[in-house]
Amino acid sequence: MALRQRTALLLRRTRLCAETAGYRRMTTKRRHREVVPDEEVQVFSGIQPTGIPHLGNYLGVIKMWVRLQEQYHNIMYSVVDLHAITVRQDPSELRENIFKMVACLLACGIDPEKSVLFLQSQVRQHTELCWILGCITTNARLGLLPQWKEKSKDNTKTPSVGLYTYPVLQAADILLYKSTHIPIGEDQKQHLALCEDLAISFNNKFGKVFRVPQILYSETARIKSLRHPEYKMSKSDKSPKGRIDLTDSNEDISAKIKMAVTDFTSQISYDRANRPGVTNLIDIHAACTGETPEKICETYSSLTTAEYKALLADIVISEIQPIRERILWLLSDKSHLQSVLNQGQEVASVIAEDTMKDVRRLVGFI
Ligand code: AMP
Ligand code: TRP
Repeated sequence: MALRQRTALLLRRTRLCAETAGYRRMTTKRRHREVVPDEEVQVFSGIQPTGIPHLGNYLGVIKMWVRLQEQYHNIMYSVVDLHAITVRQDPSELRENIFKMVACLLACGIDPEKSVLFLQSQVRQHTELCWILGCITTNARLGLLPQWKEKSKDNTKTPSVGLYTYPVLQAADILLYKSTHIPIGEDQKQHLALCEDLAISFNNKFGKVFRVPQILYSETARIKSLRHPEYKMSKSDKSPKGRIDLTDSNEDISAKIKMAVTDFTSQISYDRANRPGVTNLIDIHAACTGETPEKICETYSSLTTAEYKALLADIVISEIQPIRERILWLLSDKSHLQSVLNQGQEVASVIAEDTMKDVRRLVGFI
């Protein structure tokens, strides 16, 4: 569909959302969410450009983003570089990481014909709305949020004001597009609760503009480190052997899975509390193939752990290899990545400006 036509359609939809959003919802309790008809669903999510995503990011969230494209028509995904600079960044590394994240999202199956994929800093209205929402957010509320509490504990670094107000920017990202459904991980729950409060509070104080968004949780279990299955697989994992990156070679994937920490029982069984290592492998398997953990245990009960690891390595390789090849190919043509972002920016800016016109007027600006 032509860009202009697509933008007009999206715009018409956000206006429709604003008109049909029932006021009752604003005054009802959080538990009483409105049921949003499919055609009014606006999906929004963001991911920080922190380098090549790992298997946990992919299975936990990116795969769900890709699947949502088959279910809904109005989807916006943003590479949130403004969020990334809340902690210190090397400028050339940040630029490189933005390209890497765009290439990875495309390689994983985000289709710019189905989703608006854009760079947060290229749509100025995010920071403008962030400021306005910041003026109706209390200091006390922000100080309680887990990400701030966690990151500001690190005495070796002085936390920035940006890190503190990070969740307000996240709320602005979501509300700017009158988003209704937000696919994110469990760790973002409190940020969404703040966003919900801000939408209700703004609508009540100034007039109805925003919809109250709801979370779409991933069905995938949190993927754990292959070396320390008690912790989640993470970019900051001290042991790179605990993490599989989307650009890892087949040999590396195989070696990391073979070396994954399990236990002394050579059997395939699903028991998160007592057998976290094997359970994590089964979770990875389930997330790759869509089979249930029960079915996997039933099918492979006769395998030893070593045999099961070899089988899983093949499964993960067949999932990751085509993605890796596409990432490398996409990264060799940055002008293409740039043009995808330009196209996303064009659409996102029109919708964002439409919302901001109402916001500015309601707030009292002239
Ligand atoms: P992060 O890498 O922490 O910036 O997270 C980016 C997204 O990936 C967030 O939505 C997280 O919830 C999700 N995520 C990060 N690590 C994992 C993991 N180990 N398993 C599943 N999802 C994850
Ligand atoms: N805070 C999210 C994370 O760390 C990233 C993010 C920024 C986001 N803005 C968003 C996620 C809006 C969902 C919606 O993963």
